[in-house]
Amino acid sequence: MKKTSIYAVMFTLLACIWAGSASAQFTKPKQAEEYREAVMTLISSHFGRMGPVMKGQKPYDKAEIQANVAILSTLAALPWQAFPEGTQSEYALADIWKDPAGFKAAQEKFTSAVAKLSAAADTGDLEQIKKSYGAVGASCKSCHDVYHEKK
Ligand code: HEC
Repeated sequence: MKKTSIYAVMFTLLACIWAGSASAQFTKPKQAEEYREAVMTLISSHFGRMGPVMKGQKPYDKAEIQANVAILSTLAALPWQAFPEGTQSEYALADIWKDPAGFKAAQEKFTSAVAKLSAAADTGDLEQIKKSYGAVGASCKSCHDVYHEKK
């Protein structure tokens, strides 16, 4: 094969991969499940690590909290694209697809609570941060209470 035709084949293959990822992000239900579980694990990590500061067990550092809340804000937008129809799993309950409006409302409650936490983190007012942090936690719980399998 000539060099130019090898490049042509490679280019075509890459173009197919790109087109594929844009139109159908997840080709198998397992991929969607893995994606959302991975993001949720990160959300939980970045939320949980602020706990000791909120409980007064670790000193408050404004920049550190801001940086961590920025990561949480990015992560908060990610899981919801990974719940296509037909991907019910051990932990993702059928109600997610039976009640899409309710599930969407639970997402919005969470993302708006994270936005408020972000605004509070910018003020540097620890009392306000603690209140907003509690509201985020409550929004995790209220979604999990309805749409996540109890362990
Ligand atoms: C709008 C609903 C919703 C919100 C809000 C939400 N979760 Fe989840 N979470 C889920 C669902 C559904 C799953 C199961 C995904 C799967 O296994 O397919 C999940 C999975 C998880 C997991 C992975 C392990 C497991 O038990 O399945 C953790 C950890 C987790 N969530 C923690 C949190 C934390 C902490 C927050 C808040 C900071 C949060 N979640 C906010 C719905 C939500």
